[in-house]
Amino acid sequence: TAQYNPALAPDPQSSPVQTLALFQYQPQRPPPHGGTKTRMRPPAPSLRRLLPLLLPLLLAVPGGSAYGFRNCIQSPRDPGLFRCVQRFLEAVAGAVADLPPAATALNLSHNSLRRLPPAAFARLPLLRTLDLAHNRLAGIAPGAFAGLGALATLDLAHNRLAELAEGAFAGLGNLSSLRLDRNPLATLAPGALLPLANLRRLSLRGGRLPALGPVALAVRPLPRLRLLDLCGNNLSAAPFARLCLRNLSRLRLAGNPLDVFRLLEALPNGTLAACPPLGTLDLSRNRLRRLGCVGRLLGPQQRGELRELVAEHNLLRWLSPCQAAPALRRLHNVSLRFNRILVAGPRAFADAPHLRLLRLDVNGLARLDRQALQGLRELRELRLDNNLLTDLYDGSFADLGQLRTLNLRNNRVSVLFPGAFAGLARLQTLDLGGNNLRHLAPAALQGLGGLRRLYLDRNRLQEVSAAAFAPVQASLGVLDLRANALRYISRRPRQRPPFQHLRCLYDLKLQAQQPYGLRIIPHRFFEGLTALRSLYLSQNWLLAVPADAFDDLAQLRYLTLADSSGGMGDLPAGVFKNLTSLRVLDLENVGLRSLGPEVFGNLSRLEQLQLAKNELRTLDRRLDGQLPALRYLDLRKCPLSCACANAWLPAWLGRARVQVVYLYNYSCGGGGGGRPPAYLHSFDTRVCFLDVGLYLFAGTAPAVLLLLALPLLHHRAYWRLRYHLYLLRAWANGRWRPEQRRYAYDSFVSYNSADEGWVLGELVPELERGALRLCLHHRDFSPGRAIVDNIVDAIYNSRKTVCVVSRSYLRSEWCSLEIQLASYRLFDELRDVLVLVFLEAIPDAELSAYHRMRRVLLKRTYLSWPPEPPARPLFWAKLKRALRSGYAEGEEEGEEEGEEGCGEGGPPPV
Ligand SMILES: *[C@@H]1O[C@H](CO)[C@@H](O)[C@H](O)[C@H]1NC(C)=O
Ligand SMILES: *[C@@H]1O[C@H](CO)[C@@H](O)[C@H](O)[C@H]1NC(C)=O
Repeated sequence: TAQYNPALAPDPQSSPVQTLALFQYQPQRPPPHGGTKTRMRPPAPSLRRLLPLLLPLLLAVPGGSAYGFRNCIQSPRDPGLFRCVQRFLEAVAGAVADLPPAATALNLSHNSLRRLPPAAFARLPLLRTLDLAHNRLAGIAPGAFAGLGALATLDLAHNRLAELAEGAFAGLGNLSSLRLDRNPLATLAPGALLPLANLRRLSLRGGRLPALGPVALAVRPLPRLRLLDLCGNNLSAAPFARLCLRNLSRLRLAGNPLDVFRLLEALPNGTLAACPPLGTLDLSRNRLRRLGCVGRLLGPQQRGELRELVAEHNLLRWLSPCQAAPALRRLHNVSLRFNRILVAGPRAFADAPHLRLLRLDVNGLARLDRQALQGLRELRELRLDNNLLTDLYDGSFADLGQLRTLNLRNNRVSVLFPGAFAGLARLQTLDLGGNNLRHLAPAALQGLGGLRRLYLDRNRLQEVSAAAFAPVQASLGVLDLRANALRYISRRPRQRPPFQHLRCLYDLKLQAQQPYGLRIIPHRFFEGLTALRSLYLSQNWLLAVPADAFDDLAQLRYLTLADSSGGMGDLPAGVFKNLTSLRVLDLENVGLRSLGPEVFGNLSRLEQLQLAKNELRTLDRRLDGQLPALRYLDLRKCPLSCACANAWLPAWLGRARVQVVYLYNYSCGGGGGGRPPAYLHSFDTRVCFLDVGLYLFAGTAPAVLLLLALPLLHHRAYWRLRYHLYLLRAWANGRWRPEQRRYAYDSFVSYNSADEGWVLGELVPELERGALRLCLHHRDFSPGRAIVDNIVDAIYNSRKTVCVVSRSYLRSEWCSLEIQLASYRLFDELRDVLVLVFLEAIPDAELSAYHRMRRVLLKRTYLSWPPEPPARPLFWAKLKRALRSGYAEGEEEGEEEGEEGCGEGGPPPV
């Protein structure tokens, strides 16, 4: 993607100070293009070439399974880089413990680290970059960085270090850049920096260093130091002599209570003549109102060398050329940023014809004269951003045939007249962001045949057309249309696809259209963008993405729709079908509720998938096979549930070689009630794999069997069952509802006259002696009533009915009737009243000749009259007990009233 930086950020050196020193002298030959910024030297080429080869070997992440780190994210672009930012870490060990030893860069900034114990990072011997800024470090133990022999960059800015003891940096022999900015640093032990033999840049901004002396002492042993930044300390006197400046190319002392400005004013001509040849003269941060002839300070031999003039943050109002200053004729770079220049008049820079870089940004320029830039035929870069320009006259840039970059960002340009950019045939970058453009006329970009990057972001464009881009269609690679007012309300296109002929375009930004986003992507909107590699559509409140939206983008590698949740819910099936080259897909916060496999059709090379902040509860298991190249998956803040639909996830996580961001942090919602929350990576899926068939079988088989058995039972044992049911109910009835009724008799004795001898001789005397009232037909039946009535009365007025069974009894009609009537009481009243006494043994076979039900009944409850006399007392006892059973309490003692005839008791209950 385009890495052009509009650089409107405030000057990094800015600090609210007025008095500044500005010496930037270069003892050695100045660099070819006038850039005096000291760059960190890149790592030795051989190591650099080797690293990419070594890394994959060394970074053997836990093989064959998804992985994640407790507090760090491995960068998907650079597998050696680990970011453990803003994790509230208090100890280094918590972060480094699970990192692979091959890590090359570690970012621990914005945590709560308080101390660095000895050998804190010894696990990571290959570390080259370590960022510990924005922590609470108050101390560094001696040997804290032991084992980091390869470390090149160390950032300790924004901590609470008040002193640096000897040994703190032991072992950092390869360190080339050390930042200690914004620490309350007051003391530097003389030997604190001794081990840093390769240090080139040391920044001690914003500390509390009281004097230069101790600093000078501490940096003396650093033979390669090039940049020493002491801005914003408490240094009050500058005995430069004590500093060893042999190799130093930059010494920054701004923001100290040194009165350099006064110093400068008082300096006579040629003051700096004794310095080594100057490449850069920096007069920034003074209160200069006129630039005047600054060359006067230089000696004659230095004048020819001066390449760069910097006068930022002053009070300059005019651009007045200093005709008599040959010093400027060879200038390459001029920077007048942060001044108060209002007008650039004709030939303002005529005395510096070799300018390559001209910075006039952050001024109040309202008018740029047609001839202001005349003669600058070598100019490569022109910065006019952050001014008040409203109009660009045609011909203003006519002489700038070599210009590569023109920055007009953050002005008030509202119309681009045809011809405004005439003469800029070699312009590669045009930045018009942050202006007031509403319309892009077809001829606006005429003459920019070589344009590669066009920034039109933060304007008010309401539409874009293919005609406007026609002049640049053969070369344009980057088009930035972020934050304009593009909006579509219908899927049917109103005009030709706007980007149709931009066949070289590889980067297209359409994020955050105002005020409500693109809303809808029309059909064929991206047609013709066959070379596009990155497409940004985030923050657009998309309502609908047509399924054919991305069909032409076969080269696309990066696509983001993040923060576009306009109620989309789902992506249409097949929307990514042609994106076979896509590597990164960002669907963060898109409002997705589901994600079917049909969406991910052909993303066979997708490496990085961002799904954070969606409404996904489950992930379809078919995703597994469809994203074979996936290496990085972000599911943060999705309400994934530990449901069976996700049961494949733990197993997949154990298999796939994917970094799942903060893998151990996905809890399955809930976990309330004091239980520890369940985690997605380890939830118990056994319940999902139970054999449902077994349960179904076990559940239905008994029902089926019962259904089979019912007709059989019905056929064979219907009556027996019913009878038993009644017996059961009778038993329950007697048990739970003791009878309240009073009976005239305890028992009616039913017998055949053939057995009368036994009855009268044995039974009656025995029972009546036991105070039981008996009803006997010959004695108690009412004469004159029908015999059946008498029998019925006798049965219903007695608590029980004793049948004395013998062969003659079974043969008798009456007895048969009596037994039948007695058993009816079971069905009428739910009372089992029959007590059978067998006088003789009667085989079953004989009984079966009578009635089936009777046989059952006989089998259940009967007493046999024992032939042997000693057994008889037991017989009587059993019989009496059977007759007495069913008494209500208190009744047992027998009430003596009731000597009425059997027939005169209450009427039988019906
Ligand atoms: C570490 O992370 C912070 C916060 O994202 C970032 O500002 C900083 O530049 C990073 N440090 C390095 C060395 O990349
Ligand atoms: C996420 O992980 C960190 C470190 O392991 C832990 O302190 C934090 O409580 C976790 N958060 C959740 C929601 O599980």
